[in-house]
Amino acid sequence: MSRADTQSPVKGHNMTDQTPIAHDGQARTIAVAYHSGYGHTTVLAESIAAGIGDAGANAMLVPVGDADAVDWDALDAADAIVFGSPTYMGSVSGPFKVFMDATSGRWMEKAWQDKLAAGFTNSASMSGDKLNTLVQLSVFAAQHGMNWVSTGMAPGNNHSQGSIDDLNRLGSTLGVMAQSNADQGPDIVPPQSDRETAKVFGQRMAAATARWMAGAVEAGEPALG
Ligand SMILES: Cc1cc2nc3c(=O)[nH]c(=O)nc-3n(C[C@H](O)[C@H](O)[C@H](O)COP(=O)(O)O)c2cc1C
Repeated sequence: MSRADTQSPVKGHNMTDQTPIAHDGQARTIAVAYHSGYGHTTVLAESIAAGIGDAGANAMLVPVGDADAVDWDALDAADAIVFGSPTYMGSVSGPFKVFMDATSGRWMEKAWQDKLAAGFTNSASMSGDKLNTLVQLSVFAAQHGMNWVSTGMAPGNNHSQGSIDDLNRLGSTLGVMAQSNADQGPDIVPPQSDRETAKVFGQRMAAATARWMAGAVEAGEPALG
């Protein structure tokens, strides 16, 4: 695939389809906690952050590949956390798993209880067993008592008129999936459709977080962040 191909327009997304954002006037902060060995998953993290920003919330990119250098305060303070890992050997990467295990103290304290959560992954193969990575991320979030947000997107590229330029071309509902050819760098892959899918998901996450937090405030519940 040429670079020009990655810049082709993405089919299937109409801004007017977006759910209006209900909120209590406060800009919410969503952390994107991710690992990326070679930069491809970073592209997705940045696309999700862009979508979050587009929707009027604050996005905080938090690399977690080095467990000794994680910005734990940012994760604790965030209203929601989106977890992202490349798929390595059909599961989250080793560094991401080290991060997961390093959260056990927070699990004990219920530090992230009732925050919203979501996930994304990227791998070289179309399937590549990416679903297992998303299952891992969602179970991890559930262990923390977090509430999981799906992609909420119709599957793309699943009919005779479909193409790899479709939004959600890999047809994922549990979390955002992307695919990066093994022989191309993050300047080229994942392709534009996957980047746009991640961005639209960021908008959805911002809307969900605004709704969730406004509800918590209305119910007089203590701040979740
Ligand atoms: C150790 C290792 C294991 C991998 N396992 C898989 C796999 O199970 N399925 C797959 O489709 N790709 C696999 N890949 C390819 C990566 O998922 C792919 O190159 C991805 O774009 C890397 O993302 P990153 O640049 O954010 O690290 C693997 C790569 C590595 C280095």
